[in-house]
Amino acid sequence: MFSFIGSIRAMRGHHTQWKMLAAFFDTPGGPENLYVKEVPRPILKEGEVLVQVHASALNRADLLQRRGMYAPPPGASEILGLEAAGTVAALGPGANERWKVGDRVMALIAGGGNAQYVAVPAQQLIPIPPGMSDTDAAAIPEAWLTAFQLLHFVGKVQKGETVLIHAGASGVGTAAIQLCRLAEAVPMVTVGSSEKIDIAKKLGAAAGFNYKEEDFGKKCLEATNNVGADIILDCVGATHWQKNLQCLNFDGRWVVYGLMSSGEINGDLLAKLLWKRGSLIGSLLRSRSSKYKAELVKAFTEQALPHFASGGPIHLQPIVDSVYPLEKIADAHQRMEDNKNTGKIVLQIPV
Ligand SMILES: NC(=O)c1ccc[n+]([C@@H]2O[C@H](COP(=O)([O-])OP(=O)(O)OC[C@H]3O[C@@H](n4cnc5c(N)ncnc54)[C@H](OP(=O)(O)O)[C@@H]3O)[C@@H](O)[C@H]2O)c1
Repeated sequence: MFSFIGSIRAMRGHHTQWKMLAAFFDTPGGPENLYVKEVPRPILKEGEVLVQVHASALNRADLLQRRGMYAPPPGASEILGLEAAGTVAALGPGANERWKVGDRVMALIAGGGNAQYVAVPAQQLIPIPPGMSDTDAAAIPEAWLTAFQLLHFVGKVQKGETVLIHAGASGVGTAAIQLCRLAEAVPMVTVGSSEKIDIAKKLGAAAGFNYKEEDFGKKCLEATNNVGADIILDCVGATHWQKNLQCLNFDGRWVVYGLMSSGEINGDLLAKLLWKRGSLIGSLLRSRSSKYKAELVKAFTEQALPHFASGGPIHLQPIVDSVYPLEKIADAHQRMEDNKNTGKIVLQIPV
């Protein structure tokens, strides 16, 4: 009898060992469709590391995916979540050079972060700086790597250049302001409220314009002695295109990486772009190759990560707006959908 109960317990243990909790939705739609469900743990492929997730964070891509408007790239997990922070739980074949079980890591992933475990290509892991909490670490990978990529890999920012950052109080925006300062460039922002202007200025923005009340094209020209911005980081699209071209400097780079207003425009964009000798560049991070992501993670780890540890002249700071337990994921999505957040909305994952 004793051994029978023992073997039942062992079977249960074996069963739960390969299961995990994850955020899920059965049909595309609003935040109310989200719930937490038990699913199989990911199976590691060559070069992957299993991370036990302690915290994850939300991105606009999650809202689009939940609405059925942004499918994960081929081969990526169907589970929501583009980033995670936690500890290394297991190493897949060929992934044992850099990491060991128990290491504290944050991860850039193409999906699967809103779960208790996620499989991550080893080269897409970043060590969590000593003393940093899991919730702060979860606020870093997607927003900071996007901002770093847009500024350095895509926009090729130079010392002294002016960078106009739309959605300056967003996850990506708050990171981009700080990374501009690290690159000795001059960040300016557009945001939708005076409170967000104050926050952006505290983070290092030289000027902030409320796009709902001011003509940011005119204001940006005034703030730059009619020179304009050398780089515009644009995640808004349609509603801002004319003002973008108005305040883009000659030979400027206009980097489109989101279309929160829409992608449909009607007007003489090409003539205005030609007149400014401007470059219009589109950029998406999620669908990039693993090689590209590995290079980005390496450059960020070497050049930006050391500045999160306090003490240096430039101190980088992940901006956490709020923290929700995984089972409240619907509320977290609603907050982002309502444009209420400044910085990142973090999910705490039950360990
Ligand atoms: N291409 C890539 O690789 C990549 C990677 C990551 C993120 N992204 C994009 O980056 C953007 C920011 O993402 P996030 O997760 O950091 O966002 P977030 O923290 O949720 O912030 C987005 C903010 O944008 C502003 N906004 C929303 N709709 C707008 C509109 N129609 N016009 C002007 N401003 C608007 C709102 O602030 P206000 O109150 O200031 O209006 C909102 O709070 C998104 O478009 C996202 O898709 C792209």
